[in-house]
Amino acid sequence: MITRVNHIAIAVPNLELASATYRKLGVTVSEPQELAEHGVRVSFMEFENLKLELVEAFGDGSPIQRFMEKNPGGGMHHVCFDVEDLGAAVSDLRESGIRVLGSGEPKIGAHGNPVVFAYPSDLFGVLTEFEQVSTTESPPH
Ligand code: CO
Repeated sequence: MITRVNHIAIAVPNLELASATYRKLGVTVSEPQELAEHGVRVSFMEFENLKLELVEAFGDGSPIQRFMEKNPGGGMHHVCFDVEDLGAAVSDLRESGIRVLGSGEPKIGAHGNPVVFAYPSDLFGVLTEFEQVSTTESPPH
């Protein structure tokens, strides 16, 4: 069901500082975007082989607030895999004994595509996102 790695997200306490740090290392970092409905601000770093996201908590009750309390200096927050069919992916996950957060109904993620998250404790301690990427958006193989 998993096709490619979509992105890896690093949670940071200060998005501007983190962006400046990576820029000094020669990385092109996008301007921050406020995703109020997701409770985060994000910047993207596009590499030839992978996309990395820098994620900062935004507003009250951010979904990464607890993570930041445990990891005040930042940390690897989640990995996201592409899947072709999210409904089928949810079934595959459940059949494999991997629990999906919430009702299992896909939500629209930070990139405008449907996503679900699996419990970290069911995937070796890593919060794992699955994103349905329409085939027309995928780069040529
Ligand atoms: Co993500």
